[in-house]
Amino acid sequence: MSQSFDVAVIGAGPGGYVAAIRCAQLGLKTVCIDEWKNPQDKPSLGGTCLNVGCIPSKALLESSENYERAARKFSAHGIKVEGLSIDIPAMIGRKDKIVANFTGGVAMLLKKNKVAPMHGRATLCKRDRDNEADRELWQIEIRNGDKVETVGAEHVIIATGSVPRQLDAAPVDNERILDNAGALALTETPKRLGVIGGGVIGLEMGSVWRRLGAEVTILEALPEFLMSADEQVSKEARKIFTRELGLVINTGVKISGITSGQDNITVEYSDVDGNSQKLEVDNLIVAVGRVPNTTGLGAENVGLKLDERERIEVDAHCRTNLPNIYAVGDVVRGPMLAHKASEEGVAVAEMIAGQAGHVNLDAIPWVIYTSPEIAWVGKTEQELKAAGVEYKAGQFPFMANGRARALGETGGFVKVLADAGTDRILGIHMIGPYVSELIAEAVVAMEFAASSEDIARIVHAHPSLSEVVHEAALAVDKRAIHI
Ligand code: FAD
Ligand code: NAI
Repeated sequence: MSQSFDVAVIGAGPGGYVAAIRCAQLGLKTVCIDEWKNPQDKPSLGGTCLNVGCIPSKALLESSENYERAARKFSAHGIKVEGLSIDIPAMIGRKDKIVANFTGGVAMLLKKNKVAPMHGRATLCKRDRDNEADRELWQIEIRNGDKVETVGAEHVIIATGSVPRQLDAAPVDNERILDNAGALALTETPKRLGVIGGGVIGLEMGSVWRRLGAEVTILEALPEFLMSADEQVSKEARKIFTRELGLVINTGVKISGITSGQDNITVEYSDVDGNSQKLEVDNLIVAVGRVPNTTGLGAENVGLKLDERERIEVDAHCRTNLPNIYAVGDVVRGPMLAHKASEEGVAVAEMIAGQAGHVNLDAIPWVIYTSPEIAWVGKTEQELKAAGVEYKAGQFPFMANGRARALGETGGFVKVLADAGTDRILGIHMIGPYVSELIAEAVVAMEFAASSEDIARIVHAHPSLSEVVHEAALAVDKRAIHI
């Protein structure tokens, strides 16, 4: 007879492995099934985030930023650097080591929490009655090469994540035409790098290779740059990325063809004015969004409902249309972010254990790890305008902050948006140094339904970057001190 579990988690990315650990903490007998293999063809836990996403990209962003600092910023401190060079294989090796440590760490965490790990592709088959245990069990087939096993589980959490969206015109080979995995594994800096898609991956990966010397051209279909961010932040970002970093950003383009030659790739496109253009590059990154991953899951076997965008349809509590089957993370609605996936995983585990689990999709922080960093939570100014909400805005620049001056990172600002009547904070938007850390205060404020007055009355350490958040809150009431 097949093994039976209280919970089977399909996928060991930040949605799945976190859900599995929380289930086990709550006393549920849990199996976590994952099919990921690393380039050495070995099982590797952690999903997209740990293997080819959040963690490796941040490792390369840090390395390339250190290089950039040494090359362009140290001199202002009186530090002279001669003969500076970058060893790309060493940089990639460091990144690979961090990934291996973290993916191995997930395996240890599962073991510590007594989660049974299984390697292979999980397919939902049917729901059967287990008379011995007097319960209904979902039957899941796990295929690993020729080996096929079946497990039964009372509850199933699907956390199968997402995969890169493909462009027919630009088939990814991860040698010349790259997706995120290829962009994180280049062994030398391309002289000319093209990026299709000026979204989060395009900007982070474009920044890495630009800092290391590539001429980077981003081709974005939408008429404006970074349209999901607050408009003012996007404008500031475009100015800084273009002028200081040297990214070439073309918006409003339409790709008409891509040809791979012996030594280069030619991208043909029409520009914002409709004129035909050609871009020749050595490598091309395709980063045009990600699509939910339900391949091989067996949704059709069991009647699991997908929505119009091929995501697994769930309600506010991550419940699918099938009894005892939940889905979390990139494979369902909401932002495709690791922390959102993990929090949904925790919430579902707690609901299965009879507790109350909940994720507030209105207070999910976004961070883009460029330099300067970009972060936000809540509504943008354009969203508030479109919804006809009356609001007040307070803004403060990093230029007027002592810590930012000492760091030599003075670009950007913090903007607080608050309801005109109640003063409740509706959104906080940041571009500047270490805003990935500063955004946490904004999230707490929003979760506690704080007003801008609340932040204005909180003591912030001096000199610290957090004073910019404080001053922006004061500015909502036109009483910022240091400007
Ligand atoms: P995934 O991490 O995609 O994991 C899904 C897992 O399920 C995979 O291991 C997959 O192999 C497995 N699987 C799928 N189907 C099956 C099956 N049938 N059987 C068995 N196993 C299966 N987010 C952030 O919040 N911050 C960042 O800085 C950030 N940086 C990113 C950088 C890049 C380059 C990319 C590509 C993404 C980044 N993301 C970031 C997004 C983040 O990686 C995802 O939101 C997150 O990984 C989603 O988690 P998940 O658990 O839903 O899915
Ligand atoms: P994205 O949605 O951020 O950006 C894709 C961009 O490609 C969009 O601006 C879109 O308009 C453009 N595009 C689409 N089709 C195009 C075409 N044919 N020609 C030119 N441009 C086109 O998606 P991306 O960058 O692929 O990242 C996927 C997701 O991964 C992100 O949305 C985010 O959820 C997650 N991620 C998060 C990070 C973070 O939190 N720091 C870092 C990297 C990824």
